[in-house]
Amino acid sequence: MSKYLITGGAGFIGGNFCHYMMNTYPKDKFVCLDALTYAGNKNTIKPLLEKPNFNFVQENICNREEIYKLFEKEKFDYVINFAAETHVDRSLKNPDIFLKTNIIGTQVLLDACRKYGIKRYHQVSTDEVYGDLTLDKPNLFFTEETPLHTSSPYSATKASADLLGLAYYRTFGVPVTISRCSNNYGPYQFPEKLIPLIIKKALANEPLPLYGSGNNVRDWLHVYDHCTAIDLIIHKGRDGEVYNIGGHNERTNLEVVKVILKELGKPESLISFVLDRAGHDLRYAINPDKIMKELGWKPKYTFETGIGPTIQWNLENQEWFEESNQ
Ligand SMILES: NC(=O)c1ccc[n+]([C@@H]2O[C@H](COP(=O)([O-])OP(=O)(O)OC[C@H]3O[C@@H](n4cnc5c(N)ncnc54)[C@H](O)[C@@H]3O)[C@@H](O)[C@H]2O)c1
Repeated sequence: MSKYLITGGAGFIGGNFCHYMMNTYPKDKFVCLDALTYAGNKNTIKPLLEKPNFNFVQENICNREEIYKLFEKEKFDYVINFAAETHVDRSLKNPDIFLKTNIIGTQVLLDACRKYGIKRYHQVSTDEVYGDLTLDKPNLFFTEETPLHTSSPYSATKASADLLGLAYYRTFGVPVTISRCSNNYGPYQFPEKLIPLIIKKALANEPLPLYGSGNNVRDWLHVYDHCTAIDLIIHKGRDGEVYNIGGHNERTNLEVVKVILKELGKPESLISFVLDRAGHDLRYAINPDKIMKELGWKPKYTFETGIGPTIQWNLENQEWFEESNQ
């Protein structure tokens, strides 16, 4: 029996990971810790709250005293850190909270791992730490060796957390792994991010805001495939290693919006181009060869097979939408 701490487990990816892990390892024990910021929604993990091997703790990862108490009491084997401020636009308006949660919070967790001992600390990072690629070189991809070259306060804090993790591995021997995943979509995504936002606004026949000309390229991965990748890394990955996660599903934002409109039977005239985001990254594209060859990871979904069920989930879960405070 193993014991896991999942931080940020009431958020989009952390919540999906809680469901995935409870299904995959029903005999193990899980503590889900989340501060329940605007992005956290306890409804995401509602069916799990009644299970005897699942505990929810409302806490902030920056609260060193309470985090230490929890580690002392629970004696975790695995710590997976999803807790973060994640919305780039918010990081342009108020970087402070991003530094606190994404850097200081990560440091508190790493210190706790060092003090109390664990088998694995996994830092859930992002491909945004690599900055962006130009649009004219479609054969260029981010590898784990691509230099960190951040564009936004969000990505700068995520890169800082990665470097702290690697430093705690090298200097203190904390068994750290890091994953850098491309853009996720799937159930339980807060409707400030592109795909659920577009679905929500299209259903209400509202204008769909699209930055610039809509030509920015993102590499989309279904959240289920992110979960299977993290599962493999925490159990089979090597200490001190970074693993990129992505499924070669590059689409321009305009293409993504058109697919959603087609599925919903809504007109493209709803698209409304707005002033581009400051410092907007042009293209993200992941080379996932390392995790595929070393750990045998393979995504289950392509964008074509994943987007339909995601739209359907959003249609069937309007209540969850409304309860997510937006
Ligand atoms: N969404 C993506 O496309 C994507 C892609 C790659 C990597 N990531 C990374 O995956 C992780 C999860 O992303 P997400 O999209 O699920 O984010 P999210 O914003 O949906 O969820 C974040 C969760 O963290 C919680 N949280 C925030 N600050 C906290 C704090 N100080 N203490 C405890 N809990 C706190 C929130 O309440 C929320 O439940 C993040 O680290 C993000 O950088 C996201």
